[in-house]
Amino acid sequence: MASFAPTKAKMEAEGISPSAISAFESTFNSLVSGNTGLIPEDTISPAPDLDNAEDFSKSITVDPALLKETVVLKLNGGLGTGMGLDKAKSLLKVKGDDTFLDLTAKQVMQMREEYGMKVKFMLMNSFSTSQDTLDFLKTKYPGLASEEGLEMMQNKVPKLNADTLEPAVCETDPDNEWCPPGHGDLYAALVGSGCLDSLLASGFKYMFVSNSDNLGAVLDLAILTYFAQKGSSFMMECCERTENDKKGGHLAVRKADGQLVLRESAMCADEDEEAFQDITKHRFFNTNNLWIRLDILKQIIDKNGGFIPLPMIKNKKTVDPKDDSSQAVFQLETAMGAAIECFDGATAIVVPRTRFAPVKKCSDLLLLRSDAYTLVDHKPVLNPACGEAAPIIDLDSKAYKLVGALEEATAGGVPSLVNCKRLKIKGKVRMSSKTKFIGDVAITNSSSESKFVPTGEVTGSHDLTAAVGM
Ligand code: UTP
Repeated sequence: MASFAPTKAKMEAEGISPSAISAFESTFNSLVSGNTGLIPEDTISPAPDLDNAEDFSKSITVDPALLKETVVLKLNGGLGTGMGLDKAKSLLKVKGDDTFLDLTAKQVMQMREEYGMKVKFMLMNSFSTSQDTLDFLKTKYPGLASEEGLEMMQNKVPKLNADTLEPAVCETDPDNEWCPPGHGDLYAALVGSGCLDSLLASGFKYMFVSNSDNLGAVLDLAILTYFAQKGSSFMMECCERTENDKKGGHLAVRKADGQLVLRESAMCADEDEEAFQDITKHRFFNTNNLWIRLDILKQIIDKNGGFIPLPMIKNKKTVDPKDDSSQAVFQLETAMGAAIECFDGATAIVVPRTRFAPVKKCSDLLLLRSDAYTLVDHKPVLNPACGEAAPIIDLDSKAYKLVGALEEATAGGVPSLVNCKRLKIKGKVRMSSKTKFIGDVAITNSSSESKFVPTGEVTGSHDLTAAVGM
């Protein structure tokens, strides 16, 4: 069996904290033991009806005094590799000239104004996102940038050679030997950086964490008050699963001890797939908006010997992400929400979709950049002119996997989507702000050259294959 010793030595030499090393050792052990982490259907029950934030917000008497004990943290360590990025995704422009980070900074300032106090704000950055993020904030939001304790650095972990399970080597660029360990690293980073102890010593008790690409996740005093009144150790904001969410993970109750757990798709055996995708049975998914009692987190970590053991997520890649022929590696990650199973008395609530607005694909980005969304209090909201639902955008997953391809396609401006119900684009096209998509639209280009989408109102199906190329 492969030994953790070489990996441990590499992490120690890099000065990585014991908490992060222990957490990674636990993940590594799952890999070498072949632990599949499967959660069989007959060991869980569906999550019960959850309290609904929209309902309790109407009757709860909010307690602004809790804000003094609350820290808001945005996860900003990921690279958005899924969209072809290799630096902080939060620096992507999402609305006009505003990036995720602009809107987050403006939301923080607005929140402070609204609540009449300086609610503590933090970012968890990684070695890949720190410099760019801080430079950006220093230039545009110097007040925020200079706040003490704004940044908490997450750890880095070695990529593992897929053949030997030893730390991978990349002679051309040793930086490529490391990767961020997923947002499950939040806990090890809080401990290893000393941040948890210093927050507790300064009187902080509650932490609200969310993804930096989810601009719907703002601090909500009614939810904070509810969390405090319930006395829960950990609370997950969930949304109701729809047909579109059936392939993603869900919340469940472990029959053995009644503990809430998350079952991700990789934890589901083939024979349980039908039950996994049954959205009437397993109704809720994790938005990654989490509320954590910091004092209880400290107790759990101390009890576990300095870390929280979380299920392993294994990604197979190459050591040099830009060279497909380089050494195959495993990048091991953990997810923050999985910690729900480690907190006694963890709870979950259901929140409206407006609190869950992530940007995972270029189609999400196109929609957000378009007139289908407007900004209200620096938060994107569906343009009321769209009616009940946002247009459904189906961009060719190959042609528009990378943000660069979308930027090229919209170099002439973002088309209007406010009157569009469904837009399907297959093949390479160039759009402009002079195009208004109306109703159901399907654009096809089967040639290899990019073709211009007509300007003016465009509805129905259009095959541009034979059109004059660029
Ligand atoms: P995801 O990993 O779900 O999404 O991270 P992503 O940013 O789109 O990244 P790719 O496409 O998987 O590469 C969700 C949130 O968690 C943060 C990200 O910055 C994002 O806000 N995150 C992720 C971290 O802070 N650290 C990590 O190691 C990974």
